[in-house]
Amino acid sequence: MIPLSEPSLGPCEAARVQECLAEGWVSAEGPWTGRFETAVAALHGPHMHAAACSSGTAALQLALIALGLRPGELVIVPALSFAATVNPIIHLGAEPVILDVEEDSLGLSPEAVKNWLERETLRRQGAVFERRSGRRVFGLLPVHLYGLPCRIHDLAQLALEYGLTLLEDNAEALGARARGQLTGTFGHASILSFNGNKTITAGGGGMVLSADDGVTARAAYWANQARRPGQPDPDDYGFNFRLSSVQAALGLAQLERLDELLAGRRAQHEAYRAGLASLGLGLLEGQAGDDPSWWLNIARGLGRREMEGLVVDLAARGVQVRRVFRPFDCWPLYSAYARMECRAARHSYENCLALPSSSQLDAIGRAAVLDALATHLAVPLPVETAS
Ligand SMILES: Cc1ncc(COP(=O)(O)O)c(C=O)c1O
Repeated sequence: MIPLSEPSLGPCEAARVQECLAEGWVSAEGPWTGRFETAVAALHGPHMHAAACSSGTAALQLALIALGLRPGELVIVPALSFAATVNPIIHLGAEPVILDVEEDSLGLSPEAVKNWLERETLRRQGAVFERRSGRRVFGLLPVHLYGLPCRIHDLAQLALEYGLTLLEDNAEALGARARGQLTGTFGHASILSFNGNKTITAGGGGMVLSADDGVTARAAYWANQARRPGQPDPDDYGFNFRLSSVQAALGLAQLERLDELLAGRRAQHEAYRAGLASLGLGLLEGQAGDDPSWWLNIARGLGRREMEGLVVDLAARGVQVRRVFRPFDCWPLYSAYARMECRAARHSYENCLALPSSSQLDAIGRAAVLDALATHLAVPLPVETAS
């Protein structure tokens, strides 16, 4: 089976993990977690700080707590994302406000946000409240989905205008740039995931990033049972959301290879662009002027008829593909949180397909993907000349 996204592991990872073990570090104690945090923060800029934790989901929960989300408040999220974007909001007793995406980037639509804020909220004493529920609007939680930067400049402008907190879910887009600036550096904070299928992995793990070291210090405090550094007793009801040293060593090795791993995913994108065109399909390219990280390449133009059975049929041919996320407003679990009919999200769900995009996928693998697609669509096979 050609997987959607598998890790690229080799001697560099083995050496770092061996080094960590030889020093005797396995749990969260020791210098490795700090080294990993320092390296990820430095990648995002000299002013950035980082707090490592056990997953991207934990990072979202920690970031929301550290930024000051209170029970009963509202957080605006896009209709398309993994459930992990929304669940931490609900676990904290707050509520997501689900709004539509725009189809080029699959990210939260600034127009949808602006319309909702203008029509459905009022300002009182410097804060924004939803008219119908009277609840305070805490902030925006946009997602850079599949490595495609959302329209983060416009969303940051709206957050500024309305005095809202901006948290970027950058779990899928490490290394992407929006008009030259790295995603994850626009908001009050951002999060990353180091799950096994992400651009770099730590065998699981996550991180909170912020230019405000108070935010990352609070995230680290809550991740470590609400204990202050050097203090054995907790002074609140915290969590154990720490990242182990072995995971940090693996993550550090992967980070050292980030350019190579990003180049591999970019190569898949360029090859797919030509291959899909000959099948009469398009590929999501993101916003003009942005540099996506191409975590997953998304084919579009399939149409509802072909989508049915396509995923199953390609799996039977040895190729793992996946439809984009089912829009939240279509799930019984989340539909009550939708504040509009999310047409662009539904249209994308009916037309888009994520293709295998691992950095080490070679021309033979890509040809097998295109071959399986062409056979399913009964279109003649394109010929790829790249090695
Ligand atoms: C957009 C998005 N947000 C959050 C997460 C959560 O990350 P994790 O799986 O590390 O908890 C994921 C992950 O898989 C994701 O795709």
